[in-house]
Amino acid sequence: DWNMGDFAQNMIEHIREKVGGKKVLCALSGGVDSSVAATLVHKAVGDQLTCIFVDHGLLRKNEGDEVEKVFSEQFHMNFIRINAQERFLGKLAGVSDPERKRKIIGEEFIRVFEEESRKLTDIDYLVQGTVYPDVIESGTDTADVIKSHHNVGGLPEDMDLALIEPLRDLFKDEVRRVGEEIGVPHHIVWRQPFPGPGLAIRILGEITEEALFLVKESDAILRDEVAKNGLERDIWQYFTVLPNIRSVGVMGDERTYNHAIGIRAVTSIDGMTSDWARIPYEVLDKISSRIVNEVPGVNRILYDVTSKPPSTIEWE
Ligand code: XMP
Repeated sequence: DWNMGDFAQNMIEHIREKVGGKKVLCALSGGVDSSVAATLVHKAVGDQLTCIFVDHGLLRKNEGDEVEKVFSEQFHMNFIRINAQERFLGKLAGVSDPERKRKIIGEEFIRVFEEESRKLTDIDYLVQGTVYPDVIESGTDTADVIKSHHNVGGLPEDMDLALIEPLRDLFKDEVRRVGEEIGVPHHIVWRQPFPGPGLAIRILGEITEEALFLVKESDAILRDEVAKNGLERDIWQYFTVLPNIRSVGVMGDERTYNHAIGIRAVTSIDGMTSDWARIPYEVLDKISSRIVNEVPGVNRILYDVTSKPPSTIEWE
């Protein structure tokens, strides 16, 4: 699209002029918005940009490594990955309440980011992947009433950095087109929405290493089958949840008493309302048998057939 190509070129030029010889910091999450914003700034000022990627350990299987690969190895950005899984799990130990989980993760994210950024000197600018819908939403707080949305990326106010928000005037589809224009890899540009608190809100109740394992592995199988069956673009979001219930099953001659895994797959325009995705029965069957066969500790699969409202997309 020539329009978005022009936008990208002009924006890169604009950022270059604005930043001059100064240094820029970015909190990169690997999501579409922060990835496209960081890449624009990198094209404008190269090594003057440093990206900090806080891996809270609540990302999907292999996701942290994939983000590192793209920005560090492929784009050669100054890229700092903080592996903070233990720190986050420590803070979350024993916590079951959804809102408390969100709050802890949001606060801890800021703390980790702050500690790391204080080690850097002479930073003047902060890149944020704010998009137009964020700008509108922050005018009212109606969007925050049901669940407090911690976009991991809300940053300390006292850092006193001037903001660079190259995507402020764009809608999501425009951000994606800009991303394509400037060579952000397809799997990032077309990534499904993923909540800042990550898998923490897909594990009902307490977050343990075992719970994370069950969700990560089952989710990887679901994503694999959705991709293999060419359903990625038809479904807005698809993921597995751990409802924290066990039930009786049988495997060989043995009685089992294992976990159930829920599958959530929805169609939506903007995430505000949604319907459950009509994934073909054969595909569901394949996903179900693969999860129970390949993920030890799982003996039952549930499919969530509620729309939003009255449900929400995430289970917490
Ligand atoms: P719900 O579950 O409220 O989700 O129907 C609507 C959309 O928002 C995402 N979501 C979040 N995103 N921080 C985020 O950045 C959050 O705390 C959060 N909670 C939900 C959800 O994945 C869906 O796309």
